[in-house]
Amino acid sequence: MTGFRRWGKSKFENNPESSFKLLAAVLVIILYLVIKEFSNPTVHIRTPTYGAKIQFSDWKNGTGRADKEKAEKVRDAMKYTFEKYKQNAWGQDDILPVSGNYSSTRNGWGAFIVDSATTLALMGLWDELILSVQHILAVDFTKSEDLVDPFETTIRYLGGLVSLVDLYDAGVIPEEAITKETRDRILEQAVILANTLGPAYDTPTGMPWPRVDLSKSKGTADPPSVYIGHPDRKQYDQPAIGPARTGSSILENRALSRLTGDSIYTKNSTLAWSSIVWSRWTPAYPGLVDAPIDIKTGAPVGRERSWDAGHDSYYEYLLKITLLAPPSDPYLDTYKATFIRAVDSLRKSLGTRSAPAPNHAMQHSYIGHSNDKWYLNRQSHLACFAPGTILLASKSYDKPDFKTFALALLEGCRHAYNSTPSRIGPETWSWVPKFGYSDPVYMPTTKRAKHEWQQSGIWSSDPQYKGRPEYVESLFYAYRITGESRFREWAWEAFEAMEKNCKAPYGYAQLADVYRVEPGQWSGAGTDRWIDMQESFWAAETLKYLWLTFEESDVANLDRWVFTTEGHPLRVMR
Ligand SMILES: *[C@@H]1O[C@H](CO)[C@@H](O)[C@H](O)[C@H]1NC(C)=O
Ligand SMILES: *[C@@H]1O[C@H](CO)[C@@H](O)[C@H](O)[C@H]1NC(C)=O
Ligand SMILES: *[C@@H]1O[C@H](CO)[C@@H](O)[C@H](O)[C@H]1NC(C)=O
Repeated sequence: MTGFRRWGKSKFENNPESSFKLLAAVLVIILYLVIKEFSNPTVHIRTPTYGAKIQFSDWKNGTGRADKEKAEKVRDAMKYTFEKYKQNAWGQDDILPVSGNYSSTRNGWGAFIVDSATTLALMGLWDELILSVQHILAVDFTKSEDLVDPFETTIRYLGGLVSLVDLYDAGVIPEEAITKETRDRILEQAVILANTLGPAYDTPTGMPWPRVDLSKSKGTADPPSVYIGHPDRKQYDQPAIGPARTGSSILENRALSRLTGDSIYTKNSTLAWSSIVWSRWTPAYPGLVDAPIDIKTGAPVGRERSWDAGHDSYYEYLLKITLLAPPSDPYLDTYKATFIRAVDSLRKSLGTRSAPAPNHAMQHSYIGHSNDKWYLNRQSHLACFAPGTILLASKSYDKPDFKTFALALLEGCRHAYNSTPSRIGPETWSWVPKFGYSDPVYMPTTKRAKHEWQQSGIWSSDPQYKGRPEYVESLFYAYRITGESRFREWAWEAFEAMEKNCKAPYGYAQLADVYRVEPGQWSGAGTDRWIDMQESFWAAETLKYLWLTFEESDVANLDRWVFTTEGHPLRVMR
């Protein structure tokens, strides 16, 4: 296990004067703990119980059985996605679904193949999986002309590889598709990749560099282009990063340590987020990280707080590590308490209810951001992961109030989907908070924004749909945890909308504007209807979560699997 330096032996041990100081210090600490206990009793955990049953099991009248027809439709979408990629872009990172060209912005290792293999495995698409594994074994993960992003590489590539091994070990993948020898070679590839990312963790705090330069085996800052428009972040030698970058590697690495018996992966990924979990700086809102954070000192250099882009998966991993790690892990109580504080702060300080609009009387719950002393009444699609994660916690930590909060947020995400003509939610939207903010930072000012707000109580600030999974991911958790069939219905509505609006000649395109869906609203070539991109998470997550929602509820059962932030299932071994 990781040993933090400050828990080492005191160098004053044999000095009487120091012993007195030590005694005084101990008394102060005891007093502090007593005060803390009485001022904040809910956060203190007496008898930690990890490994509670998570999935709903009291299914009535076969409601937990597969809806074969709908599951098959989603599987067909996966087959189409795979086939078009295979024919036109095999080995490239991603296909461009409108033109049929390709992009290679993820180091050219075939991101689509590695990221989507676990979806193929769960869906039982064995021919496609065999082909993918051949590619995976041939990749040289030690070479890339471009800088490597440890965050994206860990969640898309490393997570995909480690999860494949877990799926084989659990008997999900039959011997005819992957042999034991192939399984071992996939694990070797995972080890090579994880070791290649090693230099990322070589900083004074252990927080990762934003990039790794493979030609020099050294961590480095973001490419300069990232700093354009961010004058406050131009300290090139002293990069500052958000909690998601530093706190989203522990699940993948912990599983890799379990599979290899080498604790270095757990050690480095634990140290990577220790600066924020055990922060020496007092945050404005308990449990919520002030970001960005200087990777060399661990000090916050900004005051942004959210559960949105750049922050999201840190909170997700705080919870999920308590489901994945063995209960003997000494830090689980801290992770649990930190997560609970973060949800309480999210609800109290970032969550708001919308005021009614002229043509829409209903109120909905959303989560905004905080920056310094400002509350920003804007949410992005990414933050729709929160309901699913908080629902998991409601079950695992036995917190009914979390369930109420999570379902309110999920309803807010559904409203964002339902209020557009495409029936797909925009990338970002705003609302007028009902309480507490008489002068919100964002107000509908353009004619379009005013119209959207009048009709639905929200208006989009970025009307794109990028093929993102978070809403259907939360629906998957909601269905599996509550057992209520309405969540299947909502998922089906979302899938039908994606099928109708995103299906393109070479895959599933992103939408330029979820409010503009009628032919005649875009040009003949469709260039302003679609964005010519299909990120690998479309296959790794969006289609996987949709399919799982309609499949037998015992497939990838949440009592036995924990999904990484990229949708790769890891085994719970307790
Ligand atoms: C059970 O399911 C069947 C078929 O879906 C339906 O016709 C029937 O009404 C259901 N019974 C109950 C008690 O819900
Ligand atoms: C296809 O993409 C490649 C790599 O980005 C680029 O060099 C090439 O010009 C593109 N071809 C077309 C026809 O757009
Ligand atoms: C672990 O971190 C050290 C820096 O502390 C680094 O040199 C090493 O390469 C890392 N190893 C792995 C496997 O991440």
